[in-house]
Amino acid sequence: MRKLGLKTLCLFVFCAMFGYLSAQHNTENRIEEILSRMTLRQKIGQMNQVNARKPDEKLYKQIRNGEVGSILNAEDPVLLNQLQKIAVEESSLGIPVVFARDVIHGFKTIFPIPLGQAASFNPEIVETGARIAAVEASENGVRWTFAPMMDISRDPRWGRIAESFGEDTYLSEEMAIAMVRGFQGEDLSQPSSIAACAKHFIGYGAVEGGRDYNISNIPERQLRNIYLPPFERSIKETGCATIMTSFNANDGVPPSASKFLLTDLLRDEWKFDGVVVSDWASVSIMVTQGFCDDRKNAALKAANAGMEMEMVSGCYTDYLEQLVKEGKVSEKTIDNAVRNILRLKYRLGLFEKPYTDLTSERKVYSEAHLRAAKQAAEESFVLLKNQNNILPLGNKVKNVAIIGPLADAPHDQMGTWCFDGEKEHTQTPLNALKKQFGENVNFIYEQTLAFSRDRDKSRFAQAIEAAKQSDVVLLFVGEESILSGEAHSLADLDLVGVQSELLEELSKAGKPIITIVMAGRPLTIAKEMAQSSAVLYAWHPGTMGGPAIADVLFGKSYPSGKLPVTFPRYVGQIPLYYNYERIGRPAKKNEVLLNDIPLEAKQSSLGNTSYYLDAGFDALFDFGYGLSYTTFEYSDLVLSKYTLTKDETLQVSVILKNTGSHEGCEVVQLYTADVAASASPLVKELKGFKRIILKPGEQKKVIFELPIEKLAFWNTQMEKVVEPGKFEIMIGGNSVDLLKSSFVVN
Ligand code: BGC
Repeated sequence: MRKLGLKTLCLFVFCAMFGYLSAQHNTENRIEEILSRMTLRQKIGQMNQVNARKPDEKLYKQIRNGEVGSILNAEDPVLLNQLQKIAVEESSLGIPVVFARDVIHGFKTIFPIPLGQAASFNPEIVETGARIAAVEASENGVRWTFAPMMDISRDPRWGRIAESFGEDTYLSEEMAIAMVRGFQGEDLSQPSSIAACAKHFIGYGAVEGGRDYNISNIPERQLRNIYLPPFERSIKETGCATIMTSFNANDGVPPSASKFLLTDLLRDEWKFDGVVVSDWASVSIMVTQGFCDDRKNAALKAANAGMEMEMVSGCYTDYLEQLVKEGKVSEKTIDNAVRNILRLKYRLGLFEKPYTDLTSERKVYSEAHLRAAKQAAEESFVLLKNQNNILPLGNKVKNVAIIGPLADAPHDQMGTWCFDGEKEHTQTPLNALKKQFGENVNFIYEQTLAFSRDRDKSRFAQAIEAAKQSDVVLLFVGEESILSGEAHSLADLDLVGVQSELLEELSKAGKPIITIVMAGRPLTIAKEMAQSSAVLYAWHPGTMGGPAIADVLFGKSYPSGKLPVTFPRYVGQIPLYYNYERIGRPAKKNEVLLNDIPLEAKQSSLGNTSYYLDAGFDALFDFGYGLSYTTFEYSDLVLSKYTLTKDETLQVSVILKNTGSHEGCEVVQLYTADVAASASPLVKELKGFKRIILKPGEQKKVIFELPIEKLAFWNTQMEKVVEPGKFEIMIGGNSVDLLKSSFVVN
């Protein structure tokens, strides 16, 4: 009896002390309870994210003292569990830490770079990829990833375009939402779910000149129309758990110190209740940016704007306590931040299950994961040229030369932001071609260049010899992975090194050349297009890139990707994107180009339109472009109504027919254009897309539902409105060759 009494008493004391640990309590009550027990120092500790590639005594002590809310970059799940044990069992409040890592396009099983995934126009495969990444990362203790990056990027010089979903807002929205869903799963508290992070908030993809870390100058109307929608929808539709502020000052203000962005927009307007994390030291760099005179001021401005967890730069740890004592930052501000951080930890189920289960069967590189990665790679490939239907090769060839620095580059084909992918597990085109088709085909391999930047031409002769002995040449060129990604901007987008010269020399052998480009961004390849019989743009396709390329080249599967970004002919055309705002003097077809200008021509004789005398206006490839092994015909564009009110939904249908002799998958694209609006309308905007698979001769009615409210835009008064008037509607297989109709909104 006495024993029971003691037990009950102990239980009572435990519940009183650690009630917030029990799942029975409502999360908000648990948060308030724990908050009420925290010292100011402990609260500030939750707002501190530390980098711990090599954890040391200092870190153990910080965790023990409750001075760390999150740890990034620590590896090895055993170690992570040890660190967690210190937080849970040795710190006075037992608040678990959340382990974070950049899991961008796969953890161990690497999927194509996000730009490649966007080319699939297939949100399902993007969601699957993120789910697989979450499963693999979480079994290694990672419960928070800094992805998806949803920066709209119209500048291929910017190395991080590789991590983006390209230039289009709607496509980025759909892909971002799919990725968040995949990472977070059905329920964030499941051990295999990881918190997603919408980044970089905001405008980082629009840095001046494509130079990383530079400034951007996006006015609010454009922010709302072009750059913010993927963030807003990720938060509202998928409950994206966290958001990251970007490095770039936009219109003079670094986002980490923008009350407009972090409080007015994010909290008041969008009702976001997750966590705002800074980018790597994006608080302390405000000193270098000249926005704050010292780190203390940086802490002050960031905290008061609503920036909650500081990644690595430690300004909060060093100064927030003092700032609160001086009355410059209110404790209420700190409490709000800590509430959101604790909420994230509750949502992740960390209070209940802080440790990673190291006993269950590991799923990294499982067959299912590799299969999905292969499918994603296949769907990401964009066929840019296919003269005389040279592809697929099928059984048309006996001797095939495999040439070039990227045919067997297991590291480089994984692409940028690949901390955990292992090249030992990468399947390259060389190996896959031999393995999958080597029985019937004699492959002759000549690497010729050791890597993409290699300038050594001493093996050109062997390459030409290999070409001469073959029916066809498979030339693998592009970029090493290190040439794209963060801090890897380029001013010149031609193929690096002497890859172009190699193609030129090979073309003299008189054999058809199929050029496969593996790159992290659009490259200026007009010349290479002309010298190749076929060109397949394979991006950096990840672990299973090789088998995917082999199957596509030989026709066991087919390419179906479409460009998520415009390919310029010349760097000087950048920014070049399909959905520009209407201008008064648009370029026409057949403008006069440099060499056609008569001598002493009069100033006005060339036609006064918006184009370059040397480059014209056209892109090398337009947004949405991509060929198939078959051909598709569009007909019978029909609208359910031609006059609608704002609350109605328009139904649009088109007949799509496979007119070729192969099965194929077409990405049917729906565009609209506001004919006149109170602020410059865009020439066209993507509003829908569907992947349709058809057998030869088969046809299908493809139907889109377009709620008229989707035509709304932000006007100059910052109101989201559908303005009555005429709208054009267009459907086709790219952003240029389109069937057109129109309707009126009253
Ligand atoms: C990048 C972020 C990334 C962070 C953490 C920064 O340099 O801009 O995108 O998540 O580092 O690795």
